[in-house]
Amino acid sequence: MADTIVILTGAGISAESGLGTFRDTDGLWSKVRIEDVATPEAFARDPARVQEFYNMRRTQAAGAAPNPAHHALARLQRDHPGRVVIVTQNVDGLHEAAGATVLHMHGALDRALCAACGHRWPAPAEMRPEEPCPACDAPAGRPDVVWFGEMPHHMEEIAELLAAADLFVAIGTSGQVYPAAGFVQEARLAGVETLELNLAESDVSAAFDRHEIGPASEIVPDWVDRVLSGGRAR
Ligand code: APR
Repeated sequence: MADTIVILTGAGISAESGLGTFRDTDGLWSKVRIEDVATPEAFARDPARVQEFYNMRRTQAAGAAPNPAHHALARLQRDHPGRVVIVTQNVDGLHEAAGATVLHMHGALDRALCAACGHRWPAPAEMRPEEPCPACDAPAGRPDVVWFGEMPHHMEEIAELLAAADLFVAIGTSGQVYPAAGFVQEARLAGVETLELNLAESDVSAAFDRHEIGPASEIVPDWVDRVLSGGRAR
């Protein structure tokens, strides 16, 4: 396999690890409002509510294990060093737990960020409403995740990677949140082939060259096996 592959993952890849998605039936956003827990304004207004929401998600993620989809992507990355880039919207650590290296667009639950000085440190299991920063001592520790209205991480690097890829694959994402939902168009404009692996049609399915429908724990290992056996990656 000489191809350089850029893979975008979303909450769907972690669904079979027991972590809820956001917009499926009974998804996270059907239980809490984004405006109450996932914006800088929400944190300024009610830090206890926001910390409680992320403490609950951090505990869930800590108790979850990678599923065959995470392990398959780690195997693909291992077998083709430097040619498989995984960009994730997820804040759980399941890709790393499977041995993969990833670019976290939306940050990570296991890291804390000081809203006052920008210092980052390993997040405690339970963050307090006024979590002291170990660097500047301000009571301004927050989850190091990207909230709505904030700029995702690694955007320039991702744009360069997409333009230089041979194949762009999206796995387990509904295509409803930009900029990630726009990656398929960026790839197409650069002449990159595109493949969507998902349980159901997404909002951007029409933009992909090919689709495979099914649960990630089944269709991702199948796809990786085909790629590694020199078969059809697309
Ligand atoms: N296997 C594969 N795909 C699945 C599975 C599964 N077992 N279960 C669900 N899916 C698919 C759904 O069909 C849906 O298309 O995963 C997608 C999940 O979509 P969302 O819940 O919208 O999650 P995501 O696309 O990652 O959300 C993007 O929105 O709220 C923000 O920051 C948050 O990173 C998140 C971003």
